[in-house]
Amino acid sequence: MFFRFIYTYIIIENVRQYCIGVYLVEKFVVTGGKPLFGNVNISGAKNAAVAIIPAVILCDEPCQIENIPNISDVTLISKILQQMGATVRRINKSSLYIDPTQIKTCSAVTDLVRGMRASYYLLGALLGKCGKAKVALPGGCNFGVRPIDQHLKGFEALGAETRLVDGAIIEAECTKGLVGTHIYLDVVSVGATMNIMLAASRASGQTIIENAAREPHIVDLANFLNSMGADIRGAGTDVIKIRGVSYLHGVSYSIIPDQIEAGTYMCAAVATRGCVTINNITPKHLESITAKFREMGVNITEYDEAIKVDATSGNLKRCNIKTMPHPGFPTDCQPQFTAMLMSVPGTSIVNENVWDNRYQYISELVRMGAHISVEGRLAIIEGGTPLTAAPVKATDLRAGAAMIIAALEINGTTEISSIQYIERGYEDVVEKFRGIGADIKKVYFTGDNEQELGA
Ligand code: EPU
Repeated sequence: MFFRFIYTYIIIENVRQYCIGVYLVEKFVVTGGKPLFGNVNISGAKNAAVAIIPAVILCDEPCQIENIPNISDVTLISKILQQMGATVRRINKSSLYIDPTQIKTCSAVTDLVRGMRASYYLLGALLGKCGKAKVALPGGCNFGVRPIDQHLKGFEALGAETRLVDGAIIEAECTKGLVGTHIYLDVVSVGATMNIMLAASRASGQTIIENAAREPHIVDLANFLNSMGADIRGAGTDVIKIRGVSYLHGVSYSIIPDQIEAGTYMCAAVATRGCVTINNITPKHLESITAKFREMGVNITEYDEAIKVDATSGNLKRCNIKTMPHPGFPTDCQPQFTAMLMSVPGTSIVNENVWDNRYQYISELVRMGAHISVEGRLAIIEGGTPLTAAPVKATDLRAGAAMIIAALEINGTTEISSIQYIERGYEDVVEKFRGIGADIKKVYFTGDNEQELGA
């Protein structure tokens, strides 16, 4: 009798948990219309972290990585490494201990792997370490076709054979050992540049990547590999030379600050005509963004590791941007900048020159009353028109950040759904915005109930 009771209880409890899991909807609720003021501290760079964590696979000893952002993409890639046999321990909020020495597999084909774009770095790391790799095709933010042909072209040039299995898994194998070579990238690709660097760092001889991407996180990955004993020169220029080594030793390494997170808070400060100091950053990485703000008449003061953005004088000029690989204006700041430009009277034109389809979020801004039309790669913004609160969704990570910025401009209360995209890449986004005076909270809805989650 007693056991039957326990059994029934367990079944009912499981059904209840399942229903909550299925029907629980998390949202951000933002009441805007007031300027942001104060200081915000920037976390480590997401796009450096998601490459450096799998790069530890190449190492022959444990490593400690500092200034890791506490975001769901980092949790995901850490779990993937754990599934593969690595020990991954969080030492504190921003430090990870990773021991890759117990990884006995060269395969990563779980749902977790499919769930994130950056899992493609497992290909380069495993190929470099074991000479073969089997990795599920990446998911992640969806904006148009996201090919990886340049990654595969690089691996093949190093001597690997690659093939697509069942349309969903990439296999790469090099039976005779990777051999350094000359690789010219047909398009400037961050992912291909980093993936080839990973594989080539354990190849025999020298690899030269021409037309390489130059983003700060490429320099960061090279610095990390070099600190372990790799021999990589030229990162940050469009020609990178990698001489393969046979052993990489453990290190303690600190990741660079996130330029896109910094750019996001800069846009929010300007959009609300506030004054915010952005701390823990490298001003040089933000030059293309600060140049645009200066052109608009925003008062920018640079310090060694901080930038003050003062838009309180009000009268801002419209401006145009064109996204380009670094050192051009970053595509990952395009949606946030567009949302900010909605507040500036006049016609501004955005030219998205990196991704084919990164304007899916514009229809959400239009629901808020924005006057924006899209023509091919151009978004034409008639700024300064009245906006009204509306329920909107984050269509991807940066689009979600753009929704928060737009909501902060509106004298009213906006609900933003699909916030899991935002939490993929922004650490403590609610706390950080609240810290500069924003009225933002995370709520969850289960049926008719609305509850606030811890700030
Ligand atoms: N491309 C190809 N072939 C390839 C690779 C890329 O044609 O093999 C094209 C793409 O279709 C795109 C362009 O080249 O048009 C640039 O793509 P890239 O490879 O540089 O992008 P990625 O490495 O997949 C990273 C960031 C993105 C960021 C881009 C561009 C990570 C995990 N992702 O993606 O970040 O937009 O570089 O800077 O590092 C974000 O953080 O929100 C984000 C999407």
